Amino acid sequence: MKFFIDSGDIEEIKKAAAMGLLDGVTTNPSLLAKSGKPMKKALAEICEIVDGPISGEVLSADYEAILREGREIARIHKNLVVKVPLIADGLRAVKTFREEGIRTNVTLCFSANQALLAAKAGASFISPFIGRIDDTSHEGMQVVEQIITIYQNYGFNTEVLVASIRSPTHVLQAAQLGADICTIPFKVIEQLAYHPLTDIGLKKFIEDGKKIPLG
Ligand code: E4P
Repeated sequence: MKFFIDSGDIEEIKKAAAMGLLDGVTTNPSLLAKSGKPMKKALAEICEIVDGPISGEVLSADYEAILREGREIARIHKNLVVKVPLIADGLRAVKTFREEGIRTNVTLCFSANQALLAAKAGASFISPFIGRIDDTSHEGMQVVEQIITIYQNYGFNTEVLVASIRSPTHVLQAAQLGADICTIPFKVIEQLAYHPLTDIGLKKFIEDGKKIPLG
């Protein structure tokens, strides 16, 4: 499973990249707003840090404007992927981007039927928002499972990018289901590496190691 970081924070992205774990980056307007940098500048900087798909999101909701914005985003760097909302105009734009050779990440997906439409439109990535589905007392991972089954049934090559990850358990479940990618907040990446028994065991080994003559 590929690991993307879900962040607009350059320092966080650098730290995660230095761990050698990153295959790509997703951003959204809310994440980039926190960075306080102009969007194109932030995306260009991210491309210098991570060599993989970097998602930059359009802010428009109508076909022509999505195309205009998406083409601008795609021009920033060859690794840029245009993030398009899962609405009718968005799907139409995805089809056009596909014809133009521009990769897309269809975002704000909350159902398997929506994901089916995105794949039919030619999306490169589909982003089901797991945490936000869980927030509504539904099971986000069930949607991921349904999407994977549907894509396998029909041989779609749209990659399933599990988004709105809130915990290490989400990452584990996505990996068990065979999702292609998880996009993970930095805090959760750190949590994935942590286990109290590792820390206790390491402390003991270091203490005992000091008792051994170097020889
Ligand atoms: C995905 O690409 C989105 O940026 C993100 O995962 C949304 O997560 P949130 O629900 O924690 O805002």
